Amino acid sequence: MPITYHESNQTFHIYNNHISYIIQILKSGHLGQLYYGKAVKDHDHFDHLFESIQRATSVCTFDNDLTYSLEHIKQEYPTYGSGDFHYPAIDILQENGSRILNFTYNGHIIIKGKQHLDGLPATFVENNFEATTLLIYLYDNVIKTRITLIYTLFEYLPVITRSAKIENLGNQMLKINSMMSLSLDLPDYQYNMIELTGAWSREMHIKERKLQIGVQSIHSLKGTSSHSYNPFLALKRPNCTETSGEVLGFSFVYSGNFLAQVEVDPYNVSRITIGINPFCFEWNLGKGQSFQTPEVVMVYSDEGLNGMSHAFHNLYRKHLLRGNYRNKSRPILVNNWEGTQWDFNEEIILDIAKVAKDVGIELFVLDDGWFGDRNDDKTSLGDWYPNLKKLPNGISGLSKKINNLGLDFGIWIEPEMISKNSHLYQIHPEYTLKTPHRHTSHGRNQYVLDFSNCEVVDYIYNCLIKIIDDSHISYIKWDMNRCMSEVYSSVHDSAYQGQIMHEYILGVYNLYERLISKYPHILFESCASGGARFDPGMLYYAPQTWASDNTDAIERLKIQYGASLVYPITCIGSHVSEIPNHAVFRNTPLHTRANVAYFGTFGYEVNLTKMSTYELEIIKKQISFMKQYRELIQLGDFYRLLSPFESNETAWIVVSKDKEIAIVGYYRTLQEVNVGYRRLKLVGLDANKNYTISNNYYECYGDELMNIGLITSDASCGENNIQEGDYVSRLYIIKEKKQ
Ligand code: DGJ
Repeated sequence: MPITYHESNQTFHIYNNHISYIIQILKSGHLGQLYYGKAVKDHDHFDHLFESIQRATSVCTFDNDLTYSLEHIKQEYPTYGSGDFHYPAIDILQENGSRILNFTYNGHIIIKGKQHLDGLPATFVENNFEATTLLIYLYDNVIKTRITLIYTLFEYLPVITRSAKIENLGNQMLKINSMMSLSLDLPDYQYNMIELTGAWSREMHIKERKLQIGVQSIHSLKGTSSHSYNPFLALKRPNCTETSGEVLGFSFVYSGNFLAQVEVDPYNVSRITIGINPFCFEWNLGKGQSFQTPEVVMVYSDEGLNGMSHAFHNLYRKHLLRGNYRNKSRPILVNNWEGTQWDFNEEIILDIAKVAKDVGIELFVLDDGWFGDRNDDKTSLGDWYPNLKKLPNGISGLSKKINNLGLDFGIWIEPEMISKNSHLYQIHPEYTLKTPHRHTSHGRNQYVLDFSNCEVVDYIYNCLIKIIDDSHISYIKWDMNRCMSEVYSSVHDSAYQGQIMHEYILGVYNLYERLISKYPHILFESCASGGARFDPGMLYYAPQTWASDNTDAIERLKIQYGASLVYPITCIGSHVSEIPNHAVFRNTPLHTRANVAYFGTFGYEVNLTKMSTYELEIIKKQISFMKQYRELIQLGDFYRLLSPFESNETAWIVVSKDKEIAIVGYYRTLQEVNVGYRRLKLVGLDANKNYTISNNYYECYGDELMNIGLITSDASCGENNIQEGDYVSRLYIIKEKKQ
């Protein structure tokens, strides 16, 4: 049993071969945090790990005892106002105006498997032996309210998930001002905090800062998880590298406003709190009502950042992604967005599709502009019926024609939005989120539908199923192109306005759930102006995410490298696009554009009818290469080797599960002059297997490739293979040589 309770000293030990997490019920009834890290042996006397000390100015719990102060005790789900002056895990306003709480231990159960979180995305198991769950009940007997802390340990992974649920068992109306999914006190702050930050078109940039005394945080208040900060942070020891050293990773399974912060106190304790952003959040908890927080996934690795990423990748591939495509390599698609934008008609689309078929593409995706009167970004969102001027045979007719060419067909939608210039706005202006008597701001000329209102969600659902049922659709790109503002719902009264941001996200999840259940054959790709909602919450519904509107190969190195810290390669939407690139106007070679895009879902974002015969020949080869290797690339083990954030070179490797074959992607941004020799130490291979290497024309054992390194000097590629200039890239195919 990997979760034990030792009655003698009232400790819980959550452990497997990789990790240990130890909690103790303290003499005050609060829960103390004793340890989180590498696995230690289980026993029944972890008491010595509890530390508490007399310190001047402390507020103390027990009479005649100056040593027991909640300020100086590492806790599991702390509250404010009884001696602990850090940021709390929960804050509740009570009817008498008090915010003082006292949640103490009130029982626990340990169960096999993992429970679903109602209406929320979360990791899951398919067999009960894959995980064990500990539910610890805390009770505040003044407000007669129960909190359940939920811990799930995955049997074979260094992973624990956490969330909390509150139930009002009393009679008063409570207002939750904040309720975090996780609070965790660590005994020191010798960590660097890693975050994935950015903006539109430069998502997922890895930033690192040393923890300092005080509060350091990342957050979103934009209504999406956001381009600015991915809902993820890691704390790594200063000596931790990609391949060695300790790191703790935290990933929040949620797609809206969040806060992830580390508060370091003057006594070296680091308190991590992660959850729905308390700002502009307020939840009414009436008699008999409950509230469930989203889930945080915690990973511990002592095998460096790659070790942490592997745990996330393995967990998310097996226990978060769902549907027919979960364990499948993804179809190679062409999307017309960068090729035509809104300027297309059926003929243009069919011309592109014909070339697509010739070069081996499997799926045609019709992006923005097929509905209402949509010819730019000013109109028609909400009018989910085909624009018959552009598409005289509708989506239904077009999809059949595309299918007849031998291609699958997919469409773009942006279901959460409304244009003022739309039929929907004329009939239902009240469907828009807007604050009475205030100006309503737009973003990209569009407004946000009130997804906290189930009537709106139903309305959009019915429009979408009509389109889907009429046509042959096997893929949907679900976009979301603005931050939320003037959030106020006309269908809820004033007391409920603090719930709207979260209710909105629940509405999005609800629509997704209904669509994926009704159409299990459809592959969904989420998108929010690129990567503004690249988060585990979305991946529960849509198993791939368009990582960025920036499709420049060199920019993509950083975006995809950063994304791989948490997200499996198979989830990262990546396409070859036209040059000069739309975002940075850079010209990169076609082979480098593909060499980067291979390490993701792979597809093209071009008008194929404008490509030369020579380019189409290359594209044909690229597609057949990807068909040959996509299973390995998308379902193998991915390791980062050289960081684009640190040097002119980037490298990564994917290795098949049986270690018989691997592909190294090697990229050099700028040409250097008269450079020295280079070697690249590989990881993940079998030390005892003898491998051949495609580009280098030699063979050697895995131990040599991992300890001495793959020779990547330019001259090593042979006279005909020397690639010079900027934006050079190479793939090395490394195969076990069978006797
Ligand atoms: C933003 C997306 O990220 C793009 O790929 C494209 O779908 C446009 N929206 C269409 O408006």
